[in-house]
Amino acid sequence: MNEQRLSERLERVAAHVPAGARLADIGSDHGYLLVALVKRGAIAAAVAGEVALTPFHAAQRSVRENGLSQRISVRLANGLAAIEPADGVTAISLCGMGGETIRDILDRDQARLSGEERLILQPNGGEQPLRHWLMEHGYRILGEEVLRENRFNYEIIVAERSEPVRYSAQELYFGPLQLQERSSAFLAKWQRLLRLKQCTLSHFARARQAVPEEKVQALTQQIGWISELLAQEGAKR
Ligand SMILES: C[S@@+](CC[C@H](N)C(=O)[O-])C[C@H]1O[C@@H](n2cnc3c(N)ncnc32)[C@H](O)[C@@H]1O
Repeated sequence: MNEQRLSERLERVAAHVPAGARLADIGSDHGYLLVALVKRGAIAAAVAGEVALTPFHAAQRSVRENGLSQRISVRLANGLAAIEPADGVTAISLCGMGGETIRDILDRDQARLSGEERLILQPNGGEQPLRHWLMEHGYRILGEEVLRENRFNYEIIVAERSEPVRYSAQELYFGPLQLQERSSAFLAKWQRLLRLKQCTLSHFARARQAVPEEKVQALTQQIGWISELLAQEGAKR
C-alpha cells in the first residue's frame, strides 16, 4: 500500500467520503488516505492529525513529496485537537484503531465537533461500544460495511448527527444496517466468531479459576444472538 494504491480497507473508507469534502483524518499514520484523495480530486482540503512523532513525520513526508502542503495540513495533536474551526471540516475519518479508542477520541473533545460533519469510522473491534456512543450522542448510522482483507475482518461505520435514534441491543451488537442487509461477508464474519466464542465458553467451563459470572452471561447471550441470526439465514435457504 502507498498513496497511489490504497489497501481495499482504505478504498472502502474513501468511498464514504463525500465528494469535495474538507476531511480530517485523525490517526492518519503515513497520510496515504488523504494524499490519495487529494490527488484524485475527490476532496477539497484535508487535515492529518497524529499523536505520535514517527507517523507524524511520515505524513509530513508524504504530503511534501507529493507537493500537497497547500492542501493538507499535518498536525501533531491528540485526537480532535488537530481540528480548528477555521478548517471548516465537513468529514472526519478515524480508522484502524479499536472502537473504544475511537469512542474516547470523539468523547474527549466534543466541543470540536460542529455536528455537521460526517463521521467515517473504521474500528478494529469494539464496534458495539462505539455504536452505543453514537446513539447516545444523537448520531444516526447511515452506512455500514464488513470486509475481509489479509485474513482480518474490518467494519466501517458511517454516521451523521440527526434527530434522536434508538437502536436495540442486537442492533448495537451487529450493526443496525448490517442486520438488515446480511451480506455474505457479514454472515461469514459471524460464523467465524461463533466458533471462537463457543470455544472460549468451553474454556471458561474448564477454567481452574472461576470466571466472573457476568462475563459468562455476556458471552452466553452473544452466542445466543449469533446462533439465532445464523439459524434465521439457514432457514431462508
Ligand atoms: C494502526 S494506525 C492506522 C492508520 C490509518 N488510519 C489506517 O487506517 O491505515 C493508528 C494510528 O492512530 C494514531 N493514533 C492513536 N491514537 C491517536 C490519538 N488519540 N490522536 C491521534 N492519533 C492517534 C497512532 O499513532 C497510529 O499512527
